[in-house]
Amino acid sequence: MTKVLVATEKPFAKAAVDGIRKIVEDAGFTLALLEKYTDPNDLVKAVADADALIVRSDKVTKEVVEAGKNLKIVVRAGAGYDNLDLAACTAKGVVAMNTPGQNSNAVAELAIGMMIFMARGLFQPGTGTEIAGKKLGIHAYGNVGKLVAKYGKGFGMEVYAFDPFVAKEAMEKDGVKVVGSIEELYSTCHYVSLHIPANDKTKKSIGYELLSKMPKGGALINTARKEVIDEAGLVKAFTERADLKYATDIMADNHAELVEKFPGRVFSTPKKMGAETAEANINAGLASARQIVGFIKNGDKTFQVNK
Ligand code: 3PG
Repeated sequence: MTKVLVATEKPFAKAAVDGIRKIVEDAGFTLALLEKYTDPNDLVKAVADADALIVRSDKVTKEVVEAGKNLKIVVRAGAGYDNLDLAACTAKGVVAMNTPGQNSNAVAELAIGMMIFMARGLFQPGTGTEIAGKKLGIHAYGNVGKLVAKYGKGFGMEVYAFDPFVAKEAMEKDGVKVVGSIEELYSTCHYVSLHIPANDKTKKSIGYELLSKMPKGGALINTARKEVIDEAGLVKAFTERADLKYATDIMADNHAELVEKFPGRVFSTPKKMGAETAEANINAGLASARQIVGFIKNGDKTFQVNK
């Protein structure tokens, strides 16, 4: 019988697991759960007899892929799939998918929340500022960026965007001002909300050069990936500019240094929480289960990312 393993170091809400189970069992498959594991070897062991795997940010390494003797499909319940070893999947004939858009609203809401949190001095006593009337830069206009733009406009922000992969007209149709370069985005906007994926081109791409261009009081909001930040460059820019701020949903490797050197100007969630809403868990979890059933029963490869 087809076995679907849900391996989530950061588990889904119960309602999402119940929904996944129903979809899997209605299809005549069985469900196995590996939750809150701390040792990556537990995943290597658990995947041994699984036909399909659902993960979140869990690392699906070459070792995991090769340990899955019957593995046919891996679905990352979420957007970013930098945690999947795509080459290993392709080499073993395993289809890798993500579930684009399913958890975007949760991440977009957090980005706006973080902007307000930084504008109001981390909710500590004192006079803050408002986000209305400020310039918001959307760095990458995908599913999350598009929603942050919409909500930013709702708050009365002037919204700009840079994304070479999205047609200018599509962004302009949303009432967003399109800039021609990353440099222009950072030098124009008080807030920049990051939505680029982590890959060989983007890793360490946001650092001193861009941050030091930001207008007075500039704040970078990172609900993307910590790997895209050049942390040493950020320290340099923040040392020179006492007005810059950084809020991140992915704790920086040098978090202790940042908090010590720049008190009140840096905030990090303790554990990535962008997609941590019941709604996002249900949307992404159930989409993953449906995609697995669609692939195993009908060969549907929509959302395959290792083509
Ligand atoms: C994503 O890429 O979908 C988000 O970063 C969510 O990641 P998570 O499922 O680990 O919370």
